[in-house]
Amino acid sequence: MNTATIRPALAADWPAIADLLTRYDLPLDGAQTHLADFVVMVDATDALRGVAGLERYGRTGLLRSVAVAEQGGGVGAALVHHLLEEAKATGITQVVLLTTTAADYFPRFGFRRIDRQAAPAEVTASVEFQSACPASATVMQLDLMAS
Ligand SMILES: CC(C)(COP(=O)(O)OP(=O)(O)OC[C@H]1O[C@@H](n2cnc3c(N)ncnc32)[C@H](O)[C@@H]1OP(=O)(O)O)[C@@H](O)C(=O)NCCC(=O)NCCS
Repeated sequence: MNTATIRPALAADWPAIADLLTRYDLPLDGAQTHLADFVVMVDATDALRGVAGLERYGRTGLLRSVAVAEQGGGVGAALVHHLLEEAKATGITQVVLLTTTAADYFPRFGFRRIDRQAAPAEVTASVEFQSACPASATVMQLDLMAS
């Protein structure tokens, strides 16, 4: 991960982000609209190593679109930790996510499975909840006040 940096996503990053999300069949819906809530990890040549987004709904964050170019190198963890620290620093009290592919990945950050009905109302109105992610997706929650 030498010389890699995490920075806010820019409009010019969108094609590479869309390619990466598409590679893993992750939803594009609402992602470009929320690009200001996304961060990217890039290498020294500004090539995309990974992406992650944290949409804000009041004091609840919706973690989404976590994807890396090369798996198993710690990029995913670095991006998730970065967004969780940023969330805490900006007054977010809980973070929710939906996943069909990585429910066994997120417990390492403290996320626990919850019933879809238990998800906070403000976040269930999001595009990801409403249409992008299938109803069968696992819903997970992290209480930032407790960590
Ligand atoms: C899930 C993902 C973001 C993890 O990022 P990463 O940089 O590969 O992961 P890290 O290097 O931080 O961590 C590696 C560890 O996570 C585990 N892991 C990686 N992907 C996993 C998954 N989908 N489910 C469960 N565990 C996973 C690895 O087995 C490894 O475990 P270990 O620490 O016990 O050896 C990445 O694999 C990815 O882009 N997957 C495809 C897209 C995706 O499913 N995103 C989640 C959308 S909600």
